Amino acid sequence: MPEKPEYSRVPIETIQKFGGEVPFDLFLRLSDDKLVRISNANDDLKELLSHYMEKGVKEIFALKDDYLKFLQMVNKELTTKFFKHDTSPEEKLEILQNSFNVLKASLIRGGVSKISVDLAMELAKKSGEFISKHMLTKEFFNKYKGNCCSEYIRSLFVGSVAVSMLDTLEWKSDTVKEHVMQALLLRDILLSPEDFVSIAQCREGPKNLPAEVYNHPKGTVELLTKDGCRDFSPDVLVMIECHHERPDNKGFPGRVNELSIPILPAMLIVAEEYIGHVIEASFSVDARKLALNALAGIYKKGNYRKAFEAIKIAI
Ligand SMILES: [Fe+2]
Repeated sequence: MPEKPEYSRVPIETIQKFGGEVPFDLFLRLSDDKLVRISNANDDLKELLSHYMEKGVKEIFALKDDYLKFLQMVNKELTTKFFKHDTSPEEKLEILQNSFNVLKASLIRGGVSKISVDLAMELAKKSGEFISKHMLTKEFFNKYKGNCCSEYIRSLFVGSVAVSMLDTLEWKSDTVKEHVMQALLLRDILLSPEDFVSIAQCREGPKNLPAEVYNHPKGTVELLTKDGCRDFSPDVLVMIECHHERPDNKGFPGRVNELSIPILPAMLIVAEEYIGHVIEASFSVDARKLALNALAGIYKKGNYRKAFEAIKIAI
C-alpha cells in the first residue's frame, strides 16, 4: 500500500507575500484524512484566495516535502540578500526585524551548534551594553550598529564560530570568549557602510583603500586607549589591531608576519573567512566542506594552522 502523504499548513500571508504565486500545489482540508487540491504550482492565486477567505477558510495545505523545500529556498535567498552590499539599509533592517530567526537558522545549517550561537548572542548582548555605555565608544558604536546592521550580524556569526573553536582548546574561559565578542563588536566602529563596500571591492589589492579605512584597525586601538584608558583588555586590542591581517598578502595593514600572529587574532581571522565562504556559498549543504577546503590552502603555519585545526573540530 502506498504511504499516506504528509501535509503542512501554509500560512495565507506567505502566499500573499509571494504575489499570489507559489511553486507547489495547494489543498483544502475537508476532514481529518481528506484533502482536496485547489490549485496547481504557479497558478495565480489572488482571486482564488480571496474567494476562500470570504468563505471563512483559514487554513490551506501543501505537501510537506514541497513546502519544506520551498521554505529552505526562501530562507537561503533571504540570508544571502541580507549580507549583500548592494541591498539597501532599509531592506536589510526589514529582513533583520522580520526574520532574525531565519538568519540564525542559516548559521546553524552552516555547521555551528545552537549552543554556541546562543552563547555568542548572550555575550554580544553583555559586550554591547558595556560598549554602548563607555564614554569613548558609545557614540561610534550606536552609529555603527544602526548603519551597518548586516556587518553587526556578521560579527555575531563570526563570534558563534569563534566560541565553538575556543571550546576545542584547553585554555578556554568565559573571559576569553567575552573578549572575543568585544573585539568583534568594536573592530569596525569607525567604519561606514560605504567603507565596507570599499573593503569588498579592494579584496585583492587592499593598498588601494582610502587611508582611513586601510588604517582603521590601528585607529580603533588608538581610540580605545585614548588618554591612557585601560578599560579594554590587551587581548581585545590585539584582536582589533590584527583583524584584517592574512597570511597570503591580501591582508592589511600587513604588519604581522605569518608566523608571528598571536592565537586569538588567528582564531578570529579564520572564523571570519569561514563565515565569508559560507555566505558566498548561500548556506548550501556543501558550504561547510567547500569553506574548509578553501581555508586549508591558506592557513598552514603557526597559530593560523592551530586555528584551522580548531575550526575543523568545532564545525
Ligand atoms: Fe575591519
